[in-house]
Amino acid sequence: MGHIHRVVAIDGPAASGKSSVARELARRLGFAYVNSGAIYRAITWDALQKGIDGRDTERIAQTAEAARISCRLQNNESHIVIDDVDPSEHLRDDRVNKNVSRVSSIPRVRKIVVQNMRQYARYNDLVVEGRDIGSVVFPKTPYKFYVDASPEVRLRRRAAEGQRDEIIMRDRADSSRPISPLIVAKDAQIIDTSHLTIEGVVNEIIARLRQIGLSI
Ligand code: CDP
Ligand code: CDP
Repeated sequence: MGHIHRVVAIDGPAASGKSSVARELARRLGFAYVNSGAIYRAITWDALQKGIDGRDTERIAQTAEAARISCRLQNNESHIVIDDVDPSEHLRDDRVNKNVSRVSSIPRVRKIVVQNMRQYARYNDLVVEGRDIGSVVFPKTPYKFYVDASPEVRLRRRAAEGQRDEIIMRDRADSSRPISPLIVAKDAQIIDTSHLTIEGVVNEIIARLRQIGLSI
């Protein structure tokens, strides 16, 4: 096993600010930013795009296993190419929003994504955001955060982006699935971001990272 670099895990429900906070935190720390949700979204988009029904668990798992998924860093951020196609502009499509929770509940799909996440940590210090980063993907990292905000605030944030995204339904599915559900890891620090700006959240995380001994 290669050397494991430092990992800051950021988990939380939809529109809690994970992506914005993780990206800015990574920039300030000089770490790479890895978005795990984007890989679940890319796998979902790829299967739908190949004509597979979003409920066909077996074919989705087979397709994901057969796909060539290349996860690289581009400008210090994770970037996915799947079967030589860059799915970036499709990751927030309505049909992806609707199907991604079901696809990500498939154990064989999770295995692929978890392996990719851990590969990144062999070569880089990382800020990784998702649902199970502190609980399952990097359970040994001491740097774990759970960012949250009230459902009203989160709905408002998504609406402000002009997105039709049923985040409450997705959160329910993500929190109740048997494998790697969205939970607060027992040693995670919880930050309620309802009344904080992105910069405010990042400052708070950096202060706590210093307290727990990350030299930055
Ligand atoms: O940005 P947003 O919070 O809306 O979603 P995302 O982080 O892009 O994740 C999309 C979906 O992928 C989530 O609703 C989960 O179903 C799944 N996901 C997961 O199961 N585990 C992760 N570590 C990250 C995402
Ligand atoms: O990744 P996740 O779905 O958790 O959230 P995001 O995509 O980073 O943030 C959702 C929206 O909320 C974005 O438009 C952010 O700019 C905004 N946001 C905010 O207004 N205040 C925060 N403290 C965090 C995010």
